Amino acid sequence: MIQVEHISKEFVSPKKYPGLKGAIKGLFSNEKVRKTAVDDISFHISEGEIVGYIGSNGAGKSTTIKMMTGILTPTSGQCLINGIDPSKNRMENAQNIGVVFGQRTQLWWDLPLSESFTILKEIYNVSDEDYKDRMDFLNEVLDLPEFFDRPVRTLSLGQRMRADLGAALIHNPKVLYLDEPTIGLDIVVKDKIRDAIRQINEQYRTTVILTTHDIGDIEELCSRIIIIDEGKKIYDGGLAELKDTYGTSRRVTMEVRQPELFRKIDWEEKLHADESSIETELDDEKNLFSVSFDKNRIQVSDIISSVMQISDVRDIQIQETELSEIVKAIYRHALKGR
Ligand SMILES: Nc1ncnc2c1ncn2[C@@H]1O[C@H](COP(=O)(O)OP(=O)(O)OP(=O)(O)O)[C@@H](O)[C@H]1O
Ligand SMILES: [Mg+2]
Repeated sequence: MIQVEHISKEFVSPKKYPGLKGAIKGLFSNEKVRKTAVDDISFHISEGEIVGYIGSNGAGKSTTIKMMTGILTPTSGQCLINGIDPSKNRMENAQNIGVVFGQRTQLWWDLPLSESFTILKEIYNVSDEDYKDRMDFLNEVLDLPEFFDRPVRTLSLGQRMRADLGAALIHNPKVLYLDEPTIGLDIVVKDKIRDAIRQINEQYRTTVILTTHDIGDIEELCSRIIIIDEGKKIYDGGLAELKDTYGTSRRVTMEVRQPELFRKIDWEEKLHADESSIETELDDEKNLFSVSFDKNRIQVSDIISSVMQISDVRDIQIQETELSEIVKAIYRHALKGR
């Protein structure tokens, strides 16, 4: 459905100098600053996939989406969306896609929502019959009737986002681009939006590309993620594989009967671990002893049996690395070169 081949985008803007003098100097200067926002990115996405497109602020996500939707033309490379090059055939491409930018609405601010929908129906040439089917579905998954007759400017953020999502789907597009669709929403509305995305994808096999800073969106919706950093693709694969590859740290916490016995033990020696690969913590008051370790280097069973040699264990809890921790490490470049 989507083929992105070696696309890059370079922005050239006039060089800015500080202060008022600088502003005047800038007017007469021809100096330019070049910024490569997207740097040779390729990927393919099949029909019906939901792909999370993530990266830190300024990584180049929105720029990629804008090239895929035809708003920007790539400096080099090409994308084909359902066989169409969006930068060359914008109108034709528009029939196939729906777009929601969470940061700003695409609806007519002063018109009642219902009229925005009527206009979009005309723009996209949706037949009365299709429109009715579509609205029945959208009303059900997004609860639009609640505020359908109100001007868009009077809607709350959560209502507006539901309205925007509905508006992007009137013409039953094959591909749906969502740029931060849950930004600023409370947990209940977030859930509603995620549910709606899931249902649209299941019922119509709509392909969804989602950029977000909300790890919950990713965990609940995406089986595949693409991570970009400084304009370059650094990861493309399953969520489970990402956790497997980068999320190898574990933490086992045990409730022990005699915590005082744990004070003097050299755990590195006892577990034959090298210095940086384990970390221990003792909470005397709650009788908790915990060990953080790398599951590729140390077996959890070895830790538990060593602990049980010292004291009775009443309870055991094992925690995986949270996805948010893995993503944070990737954004901090902490995993570069691995
Ligand atoms: N029209 C433009 N002119 C010049 N530079 C731009 C333009 N649009 C984006 N950029 C720059 O390109 C880089 C990538 O921006 P982009 O908006 O794609 O990031 P993003 O990944 O969407 O970030 P965020 O998570 O903050 O939304 C940034 O450094 C940004 O300042
Ligand atoms: Mg963005």
